[in-house]
Amino acid sequence: MKVTAAILPLLTVVSASCLHGTSLLPRAADGIVDINSFNYTNTGGPLTWYGLDKKNSACSTGKHQSPIDIVTEEIDYASANSVHFHIPSADNAKFENLGSGLEVVLTNGTLVTKSGSYKLAQFHFHTPSEHRINEEYYPMEAHFVFENTAGSIAVVAFVFELSQFGYSTPLFDSVFAHIDDIATPGTYTKTNSLDFTGITRHLNSHGIYQYTGSLTTPPCSEDVAWYISTAPLPLNVQSYNAVKHVLKFNARYTQNALGQDNLLEVATSELK
Ligand SMILES: *[C@@H]1O[C@H](CO)[C@@H](O)[C@H](O)[C@H]1NC(C)=O
Ligand SMILES: *[C@@H]1O[C@H](CO)[C@@H](O)[C@H](O)[C@H]1NC(C)=O
Ligand SMILES: [Zn+2]
Repeated sequence: MKVTAAILPLLTVVSASCLHGTSLLPRAADGIVDINSFNYTNTGGPLTWYGLDKKNSACSTGKHQSPIDIVTEEIDYASANSVHFHIPSADNAKFENLGSGLEVVLTNGTLVTKSGSYKLAQFHFHTPSEHRINEEYYPMEAHFVFENTAGSIAVVAFVFELSQFGYSTPLFDSVFAHIDDIATPGTYTKTNSLDFTGITRHLNSHGIYQYTGSLTTPPCSEDVAWYISTAPLPLNVQSYNAVKHVLKFNARYTQNALGQDNLLEVATSELK
């Protein structure tokens, strides 16, 4: 059971007597993980990622940076049946709070596109969404990160929209089942069992936006192949609130249109 902030003070009072050690208390995290040095606040935020490490230069000079505003009249669409996304079911997976984001470590999975074959590295979440579609943002976005043997990266992404019927894709109910255990950055827990057939069917039965951009986190490396489902996945309000409570805010600001000068260079030249 989830302990909400509203009943926490009450719980503190009564736990000394009758509730101590019962299931009302959150479970502990399974262990600790290293947190990332970059974040989304003050001097750790995306305006200063280059300053954190010179290896991050693409963050402030790259001209094909992500996320972008997807203009649906102009973006390319992957041709039908050209994106083969396959992730076998898993009994569970490690679910980490890296400070900068929430990540599921799962490497059994493949992506085959016209540019070759990639292996899953992990998937993770952003609140709010990083990509915008015709300027509109979404409450959450998931990134499935794949890498090929040459080190090239491809990301399959889904944006989410709150469901008016209280429904979430079951995969994400399983992923977030123990999210309260990892409210502290640097901790991990396990997901429940994961079945990817629902999101695979969703990806295959809608259009896919396609463009070449970058990682949205340091080092902001370019030549990343993005495949973004044109149809949002449903998310229930309880999951959304639980994720937002832990993730807080981890979306990089919208970058300049592909091929245009990096907004940080534009801003710097205007200051001069
Ligand atoms: C963000 O990163 C900066 C620079 O590393 C650090 O000083 C700050 O405490 C971090 N803020 C949060 C909220 O983690
Ligand atoms: C990944 O695949 C290997 C080989 O098929 C299998 O042994 C392993 O159990 C799988 N891992 C998960 C998490 O399903
Ligand atoms: Zn991401």
